[in-house]
Amino acid sequence: MLTLYRKYRPQTFAEVIGQQHIKKTLENEIKTGKISHAYLFSGPRGLGKTTLARIFAKAVNCEKRKIGQSEPCNECFSCREIMAGKSLDLIEIDAASNRGINEIKELRESVRFPPSRGKYKVFIIDESHQITSDAFNALLKTLEEPPEHAIFILVTTELHKVPFTIASRCQKFNFRKVQFEEILNRLKKIVELEGLKVDEEVLKNIARQSQGFVRDAESLLAQVLSLNDKEITLEEAKIILPLSDSEKINEFLKYLLEKNSSKAIKLINQCLEEGIDLKQFNSDLIEFLRKLILFKIGSPLENDSFSSDKIILSLVKEIKINDLIKIIEEFIKIKTSLEYSEIPQLPFELAIIKICHL
Ligand SMILES: Nc1ncnc2c1ncn2[C@@H]1O[C@H](COP(=O)(O)OP(=O)(O)O)[C@@H](O)[C@H]1O
Ligand SMILES: [Mg+2]
Ligand SMILES: [Zn+2]
Repeated sequence: MLTLYRKYRPQTFAEVIGQQHIKKTLENEIKTGKISHAYLFSGPRGLGKTTLARIFAKAVNCEKRKIGQSEPCNECFSCREIMAGKSLDLIEIDAASNRGINEIKELRESVRFPPSRGKYKVFIIDESHQITSDAFNALLKTLEEPPEHAIFILVTTELHKVPFTIASRCQKFNFRKVQFEEILNRLKKIVELEGLKVDEEVLKNIARQSQGFVRDAESLLAQVLSLNDKEITLEEAKIILPLSDSEKINEFLKYLLEKNSSKAIKLINQCLEEGIDLKQFNSDLIEFLRKLILFKIGSPLENDSFSSDKIILSLVKEIKINDLIKIIEEFIKIKTSLEYSEIPQLPFELAIIKICHL
């Protein structure tokens, strides 16, 4: 499968989506040459922390960049070495692998020596919350009196685990989830660069499912792109894309009306595997059924969008009021047992069996 996130890792600030507040500050510091010695990048996975750290490292050492500019040229020796992962002036340490004691020791040694070629020696310490307290103490000493040429970028997904003494010495940036539109546009661009055609609905679906996490969106896109090399429609992509919560409810209801208990049970178990809270699912389902029955009897709630939804309209047409009442009652009944059941999906399974078989 394509690893899109390696292939399309942004190489300039401009290519990084979202994180405006961070980009702006970093770019300003580069333009004016007022660079800090220690940064702390925090936030969930897949939002551009490592990416921006590398772009920053590239920019400060770029041999062609002029004063007042912030973007790395991506052509000079230094930029190319960094992109190839071969630069001696960019040291990346993964604290997760061995909690960093030896690395930090080595780091303390190496910090003292000037950069081999560039102006700065940049240390990116990933998963920095995993460093042991010994290693943290060693690091602290280095952070207290960093040499002019040293820049530390500490990266973490768990900011609260980074000791205050360390965090307080860093310029802190919190990475945020990215807006739907921006993710959608990035997906479109990738598809275009791949020379492929994907139904816009598929891309919207992916952007929605990713919930603001860029790398998740790209991984999902890669799975969809591996389906075929021509045109990918929503129908085809459905094999891969997990249903959204409201789509799941529609699907679930469809199975109940068809009295297809095995598909309904399968869907509930799938929800559980995906980490969906079944109590929440049940409440959402009841809420949906309430809207549906009120719509059916001709007194719709103001905020439903049923009259413009083709799938719902056909559902409403097919469904009998008696069936709907029975279904609603069954799911109201399981509310308490969902709280206590040792097998979390069992109350659902029993309700499904009653609705479909009794
Ligand atoms: N803000 C972003 N803008 C553009 N691409 C991004 C962004 N965040 C993540 N990505 C994509 O996800 C991949 C992994 O991002 P990365 O910077 O390693 O995330 P993190 O370090 O926050 O876990 C990148 O190569 C890129 O393809
Ligand atoms: Mg990272
Ligand atoms: Zn350069």
